[in-house]
Amino acid sequence: MLGLNAQGRRVLSGMRPTGRLHLGHYHGVLKNWIRLQHEYECFFFVADWHALTTEYETPGIIQESVWDMVIDWLAVGVSPNAANLFIQSHVPEHAELHLLLSMVTPLGWLERVPTYKDQQEKLREKDLDTYGFLGYPLLQSADILIYKAELVPVGEDQVAHIELTREVTRRFNYLYGREPDFAAKVDTAIKKMGKKNAKLYSELRKQYQEQGDHEALSRARALLEVQQNVTLGDRERLFGYLEGEGRVVLPEPQALLTPTAKMPGLDGQKMSKSYHNTIGLRESADSVEKKIRTMPTDPARVRRNDPGDPDKCPVWPFHEVYSSDEVKQWVVTGCRGAGIGCLDCKQHIVDAVLTELAPIRERAEQFSSDPKLVRNIIAEGCESARAVARSTMEEVRTAMRLELDI
Ligand code: TRP
Ligand code: SF4
Repeated sequence: MLGLNAQGRRVLSGMRPTGRLHLGHYHGVLKNWIRLQHEYECFFFVADWHALTTEYETPGIIQESVWDMVIDWLAVGVSPNAANLFIQSHVPEHAELHLLLSMVTPLGWLERVPTYKDQQEKLREKDLDTYGFLGYPLLQSADILIYKAELVPVGEDQVAHIELTREVTRRFNYLYGREPDFAAKVDTAIKKMGKKNAKLYSELRKQYQEQGDHEALSRARALLEVQQNVTLGDRERLFGYLEGEGRVVLPEPQALLTPTAKMPGLDGQKMSKSYHNTIGLRESADSVEKKIRTMPTDPARVRRNDPGDPDKCPVWPFHEVYSSDEVKQWVVTGCRGAGIGCLDCKQHIVDAVLTELAPIRERAEQFSSDPKLVRNIIAEGCESARAVARSTMEEVRTAMRLELDI
């Protein structure tokens, strides 16, 4: 779907600051951000309020992690020249929108989000019977909608949150996009597009409404994107009129599923801090080497002469991430025929990981030694994020009849 903003397509994503980042974050999330930052207008933020929903008893961890996480982002190549980098709690408008959205969000919608019960089960040692934890997906909706983001890169586990956001958006627009004189205003707005475009818009709308032609809907939206003579309010009406009888105050976002492969952990499970199977982005070469050399392998290979099977070995998925076809072939043959030792096999991974991490570690050191620079980057990112957030809130307050002159 095309967004409302004519200046470009917006992407937004957030990450919780709960500790140092590892290769799983890099391959699973950050490489994707780095690609997206050159294709879209990107907003990437430190989701510190989100972290509080589960870490409220030990907020110190969050505070310690914020700058480390930003440094890790910068070190891998997330660029302040290409994306807006900011901290959620420094754009308090997120909280205001969360509050206003909470007025129209049925409790059942939040209770039905699968992560709600799942996480409560999984994190049983924490008391997550809180208002904040239940509302956390709605806070995420506010994060997205306040920037009118069109695309939200997330993992599989977060898709339900984007679905919730879409439902809340539709309800919001239904409640606050209606106006008594909508039809008349739409009529005037259509005329402002000029004869040719007005005709095209009406035809495309008809095709969508009568035949459910989604291609026509996309073309109509694209047509609206490039109209110069329509005001913001009229644009919202024209977007809304394509599908219904009210303005689109907030556009519906879409999940952008991260295409990168899952990074394996040292034990064959997915790499994750809670499994204690990670390689940190700033870990020392010695420690990385030791971790890889002591990784478990196919249990059938007790001795050097025992043949093994890469499919039963946690080292193999690393070859799938890092090795050329040639090396992979060497591994498969050498493992099955007991022609290579496991340490020979692992050495390729040690080399590949160290080569990948060396420049990251170096850049992280540079940023760490210049905290002022890092703070300036974030201060600027917060400023530009806030400008967008403020402007959306003005529209939201107006739509909700909260704009009072005092
Ligand atoms: N909920 C996400 C996570 O736990 C982080 C997040 C917060 C987020 N707000 C967001 C992601 C908005 C995408 C968009 O990983
Ligand atoms: Fe695993 Fe490689 Fe050893 Fe085979 S040779 S068991 S793939 S480490």
